[in-house]
Amino acid sequence: MTPTKAAPTASTPAPTSVTTSGSTPTAEAPTTSSPATPSAASTADETGIITTTPITDEVLRAVYASDQEMYPVGLTYSRLRQWVAACPDLSICFQSTKIKQGLLGVVIVLPLLRSYWEDLLTGKLKEPDIDPEKMFPRPASSSTPVRTPGMAARGGGKTLHVMPQKQEVGLHVYHIERLAVEPPTPKQKRFSDIAMEEVTRRSEERGDWVVVGHSALTATDGGKRTFQRLGFKSTGYRELFVTTARRNSQATLSSSDGLAGETQERERPEAEEEEELEMMFIYPDEDGASRRSVSEIIGYGRKVVSMSEMTVKHLVSDAIPVA
Ligand SMILES: CC(C)(COP(=O)(O)OP(=O)(O)OC[C@H]1O[C@@H](n2cnc3c(N)ncnc32)[C@H](O)[C@@H]1OP(=O)(O)O)[C@@H](O)C(=O)NCCC(=O)NCCS
Repeated sequence: MTPTKAAPTASTPAPTSVTTSGSTPTAEAPTTSSPATPSAASTADETGIITTTPITDEVLRAVYASDQEMYPVGLTYSRLRQWVAACPDLSICFQSTKIKQGLLGVVIVLPLLRSYWEDLLTGKLKEPDIDPEKMFPRPASSSTPVRTPGMAARGGGKTLHVMPQKQEVGLHVYHIERLAVEPPTPKQKRFSDIAMEEVTRRSEERGDWVVVGHSALTATDGGKRTFQRLGFKSTGYRELFVTTARRNSQATLSSSDGLAGETQERERPEAEEEEELEMMFIYPDEDGASRRSVSEIIGYGRKVVSMSEMTVKHLVSDAIPVA
């Protein structure tokens, strides 16, 4: 989750509106023209009228390029696109009438079936390995038609409709970013609140999920502060980029400034040091009992370039099979 310079495309899909004052956004109303009719509530604060659109390919590419630059994990662009395509209503662009360029920010949230989400929290499952086909909840279908054998044998025409079981889902915030360049005023609502309330509203509106918690792998200071403010706690799983200073083993130099045509080898005055970037993982409780420091865990001589921390906010503590 890193800053990007994303821009809206000319072919931005038709927006829908979100109200922003108070703690609960009102129901989304699809519109064909932008912006939506202002509600009394949304004109009362300075956040302006917020509208939402799906993420365009251009914005998604900007998010990907910037993330890779700062956090070069093995995530392919096609995987990122798969995530968005598998659950487009949780990948959202926000626009505001108060922002000159219009684009307020973007959020990409991945819904994971509970067992996969719990593996993600502890680092057993890594973000790039999230396979939406297997790990996202099945798409909602209102009911499953079932014909009983007895009915079929008697040639009866009755069909029973069995309501599908609710699926337990954890919502993982893969990316959140305020894109507006204008600094927010104290009277405006924070972008992180706008985005997370909209994600919550959309996931509740589905009706076929039990959302057991929210998570985020926080990479930046702003992200860490934001999720802490929202009540997220560290799971103890951390991903680090570290550099290791390596002595160059070929500590000799070639020189041709001696006899004509002859190459001489001479010792370097000091062995050269090269820095190698490496990714390391710290799992929950690795520092628990002994309270070891990060340097002790990763080994001295390594320099931490960045450290991301998995954070979570549990909404349901026990597995609740909901019919
Ligand atoms: C994470 C992020 C989306 C949170 O956005 P946000 O909720 O709008 O809040 P901001 O981070 O922009 O706020 C920065 C500061 O501006 C001020 N501020 C922002 N919105 C404010 C508001 N509505 N009212 C008052 N002050 C506000 C606060 O002083 C805040 O500092 P604080 O968090 O120490 O209190 C945003 O910081 C961001 O886009 N960062 C870059 C991308 C990033 O790091 N993403 C997360 C990766 S884990």
